Amino acid sequence: MKLEDCQNFEDFRKLAKKKLPSPIFAYIDGGSDDEVTLRRNTDAFNDCDLVPNILASVGSPDLSTTIFGKKIDLPIFLAPTAMQRLYHHEGDKASAKAAEKFDTFYSMSTMANTTIEEISKISKGPKLFQLYVHKDQSITDDLIQRCKNSNFDGMCLTVDTLVAGNREKDKRSGFTTPPKLSLQSLFSFATHPNWVFNYLTHEKFELANVSKKTDKGTNISKSVIEYINEQYDPAMNWKDAEYCVKKWNGPFALKGVMSVDDAKKAIDIGCTAIMISNHGGRQLDGSRSPFDQIKLISDAVGDKLEIILDGGIRRGTHVLKALAAGAKACSFGRMFLFALGAGGQKGVEKVLQNMHDEIYRNMILMGCKSIKELDNTKLIYRK
Ligand SMILES: Cc1cc2nc3c(=O)[nH]c(=O)nc-3n(C[C@H](O)[C@H](O)[C@H](O)COP(=O)(O)O)c2cc1C
Repeated sequence: MKLEDCQNFEDFRKLAKKKLPSPIFAYIDGGSDDEVTLRRNTDAFNDCDLVPNILASVGSPDLSTTIFGKKIDLPIFLAPTAMQRLYHHEGDKASAKAAEKFDTFYSMSTMANTTIEEISKISKGPKLFQLYVHKDQSITDDLIQRCKNSNFDGMCLTVDTLVAGNREKDKRSGFTTPPKLSLQSLFSFATHPNWVFNYLTHEKFELANVSKKTDKGTNISKSVIEYINEQYDPAMNWKDAEYCVKKWNGPFALKGVMSVDDAKKAIDIGCTAIMISNHGGRQLDGSRSPFDQIKLISDAVGDKLEIILDGGIRRGTHVLKALAAGAKACSFGRMFLFALGAGGQKGVEKVLQNMHDEIYRNMILMGCKSIKELDNTKLIYRK
């Protein structure tokens, strides 16, 4: 399988599996506990059907939408994901450049391996920063200020990761940040010499935005579970979230909202957006999927907040269904990470091109000239 032949999620996944040492592949691929929520996130899209209108003289549909105060060309963007340097040696830089080419958002995780300042230098595209609230408040304040100085367009605060989910694949593989050789993983690293060569001959692995404040995760190997549980504040509350909203003073989303009540509270503290998300099924297993929940939330607050659906997206039609159910845009994680692992910047460009083509073609088949025309009359639930 070559990158050019990758048609869908499974193709990118297979190619990434070939290229990445197994603990790293499993870190991307896995969910928490029994992965029930991970599977449901995608399966939920199959419980409803799109209803097309015919002879609508669509011509070339307009795929643009506006989120975080920015008009973007595609209604899908790259979700914030940690440690991209492990999936390809160009890491976040490759993702940011690919997103810029498609005029859509690149999102930087607090746990990125590239600094806020470096990304701002190499990309003029739309940029979102994902914040975790640290026990050490000076880290949180520093991240917000640096994003302001570097002209990031928006910020999202992840609220579903106060402790790490139980990711058993990572426990079994001994996955750590930075990666460390263990007996379990030795064979897998030894059989991926290209990955090892690129890892050793490019920039040093570090959690670049926080490494000046803490050695952990950069010079001291930690499992991701240990890292999250040591660094992030499990007592975070609405006051802390409001503090971040005020400090940022610009377009702001809570990432991980799943209930109508919490969506209403997000409005009360000044958020302009919410990301309906369960962290890609990596946190609370058995929790509801974003697509199962979007209509309820959108009916209640869709006119007061930008709604972003995050999780389970594998096809252009999933994006169309989410938009019809009330989203202004969607974000995806694993699909672009597998593409990054499979082919670096070219891989991410390929997955964005595939998504563009699927959304474009299906908009014509739906009889929709713009994504505003995708409303709830275009969707019927089976039960
Ligand atoms: C490998 C990996 C790392 C992630 N790291 C972060 C992170 O640092 N911060 C965050 O808010 N979400 C993180 N996420 C969750 C994504 O932002 C997103 O919610 C999730 O991937 C969406 O589900 P999908 O993979 O089915 O598209 C991560 C997801 C994956 C797969």
